[in-house]
Amino acid sequence: MTSLEWLPAACCPRVYSATTTNLRVSHHHSKLILCRKKAGRMLGFITDFFTYETTKSVVVKSWLVGSINRFVQLLIIIYFVGWVFLHERSYQTKSTGIESAVMTKVKGFGRYNNQVMDVADYVVPQQGTSVFCIITRLIVTINQTQGVCPQYGRRYVCTQNSDCDKHLGSNLANGIFTGNCLTGYCEIEGWCPTENDTVQTEYMEEVENFTIFIKNSVRFAHFDITRGNFPADIDIKCIYHPVDHPYCPVFRVRDILTHANESFSTIARQGGQIGIHIRWMCDFDQALDRCKPSYSFTRLDDVFENNTISKGYNFRFAKYYKTPDEEDYRTLHKAFGIHFDVMVSGHAGKFDVIPTLINIVAACTSVGLATVLCDIILLNFLRGADQYKAKKFEEVSEVDIHAESRSQSLLTLKNEGKISEDSETVANGQQL
Ligand SMILES: *[C@@H]1O[C@H](CO)[C@@H](O)[C@H](O)[C@H]1NC(C)=O
Repeated sequence: MTSLEWLPAACCPRVYSATTTNLRVSHHHSKLILCRKKAGRMLGFITDFFTYETTKSVVVKSWLVGSINRFVQLLIIIYFVGWVFLHERSYQTKSTGIESAVMTKVKGFGRYNNQVMDVADYVVPQQGTSVFCIITRLIVTINQTQGVCPQYGRRYVCTQNSDCDKHLGSNLANGIFTGNCLTGYCEIEGWCPTENDTVQTEYMEEVENFTIFIKNSVRFAHFDITRGNFPADIDIKCIYHPVDHPYCPVFRVRDILTHANESFSTIARQGGQIGIHIRWMCDFDQALDRCKPSYSFTRLDDVFENNTISKGYNFRFAKYYKTPDEEDYRTLHKAFGIHFDVMVSGHAGKFDVIPTLINIVAACTSVGLATVLCDIILLNFLRGADQYKAKKFEEVSEVDIHAESRSQSLLTLKNEGKISEDSETVANGQQL
């Protein structure tokens, strides 16, 4: 019996058999067949949908492939347990988004140009931000006023006015060239006398003993946890040391340069840029006290160290005054200094169900990767590979399919004959 017999009668037009004409019956009959065909397709679709497929496996009893399989599976498990779960802590949600505030304060006194220098003299800018510069050396040009004067410098030597034509419109000098030759140098209009920055001045030696206090607070927004870089009971007279006082927020300039592998005298003469990195690596599955910063120091302008131009770090600033008769004059400073940049980064994690589940599933799936490797070995490199191939892959060609369908239709014909003959078997549904 086919599944069509079980169709509910309601979905198909009823056949009035006895009283209707032959024509009518056959009409109804064809309609009925059409309907049954349609419904049959639908039912087939539904029954196809509510099925479960599982793959048929080929068991290979080979010590070699078997042990390779187990070994690769073991490696994958070790990788996931050891590296992914324990080392990388993939059972946690991670967050690198931190909100950070940095305040700095430099302390120390130095002597320069027969003056005692304090913080207001040598730190720029004064606000105590995360980016600041400690001036170590100055080239001072005093009493500059507006006017015309010779531009000092070997490149600007001249004997006649036409020698200065090539400098017209240049940005490199200390003023606008007029095109005249004045006392052996090309003449400029601007702040006069011009600066002579080839003079070698001394640097302020005491800078190496200056201290920098860094106050840093961070907030891990994702976990809503706030931390500061030193505890409330810290001895503020401490000096940072990576082993003895790793959490002391006071840093000596010389120590910072030593950690960055730089010599103080070079950087104090030329200027340079130093990065102070504060890293927060926190595991909030552990006690909050263990969420502490770590410091590291690098020279940021390393790449330009061997350049001939623009070595180090310098900038200019001026202080302005007025003469009693209201005329402006200024003192120009070319400052060389150590430019510090405090950079904060953070990384925190805390146990969470979702990443744990995802990674467990990934681990389980990955164990199956061993099969891929074993299949390659089994089907290509092992003795008897062809036999294994024959067992693993069942080949079906088009000719086979045609032959099969023909024999099947023959079978159906035979069965139908049987049905008409033997109604009892049909009722029992056991015709095959
Ligand atoms: C820096 O301090 C040390 C002692 O802490 C001292 O011996 C040294 O002379 C100081 N350096 C300068 C340039 O003052």
